[in-house]
Amino acid sequence: MNISIIGTGYVGLVTGTCFAETGNDVICVDIDEKKVEKMKAGVVPIFEPGLEVLFERNTKNGRLKFTTDLASSVKASQIIFLALPTPPGEDGAADLSYVLGVADQLSRIITKYTVIVDKSTVPVGTAEKVHALLAQNLDEDLFDVVSNPEFLREGVAVPDFMKPDRVVIGTSSAKAQK
Ligand SMILES: NC(=O)c1ccc[n+]([C@@H]2O[C@H](COP(=O)([O-])OP(=O)(O)OC[C@H]3O[C@@H](n4cnc5c(N)ncnc54)[C@H](O)[C@@H]3O)[C@@H](O)[C@H]2O)c1
Repeated sequence: MNISIIGTGYVGLVTGTCFAETGNDVICVDIDEKKVEKMKAGVVPIFEPGLEVLFERNTKNGRLKFTTDLASSVKASQIIFLALPTPPGEDGAADLSYVLGVADQLSRIITKYTVIVDKSTVPVGTAEKVHALLAQNLDEDLFDVVSNPEFLREGVAVPDFMKPDRVVIGTSSAKAQK
């Protein structure tokens, strides 16, 4: 499948690299131009056992690419994973501004049916908020929002992703589930 990962940090890079390793065509998007340039030059920005060899293999065979261009990667993708930061605020609540900001951008870019998957750690009800934002500018037949929270642990992120002890997928759409 053609997949975009929005936010190429710890979770996004591991997710994107492992999806490329399992045969998908992946574009990792980030707003950090320096980080994207480094990854394009073959530099893995984090240390995670087992990641570098997968990164190298999949960048060389063309299944793993990096960009700052959100629109072109979204247009080329069937599934979009949001792996954006959700830092806790002073009251401990997750800051959803990154996730909701990108959802708003997506609502102006998507032109064909696309599954938007939230991998960030977010409170219950976030999928409805993302859905509502997308629906402001998009026909509801053109998208579904799915929850797929990430449980990987730093230090064993690659094996946690490749052989997870659980995968949680939340959706009310049979089409998106398929
Ligand atoms: N790191 C972990 O061990 C871990 C494990 C499970 C879940 N999570 C959750 O996963 C989510 C991501 O965490 P992380 O550790 O990968 O964060 P991170 O800070 O390592 O990476 C986030 C990336 O998103 C990019 N970004 C920010 N705004 C953007 C935008 N508008 N468009 C594109 N890219 C943008 C940043 O430049 C950064 O590279 C968080 O919700 C976190 O709680 C993290």
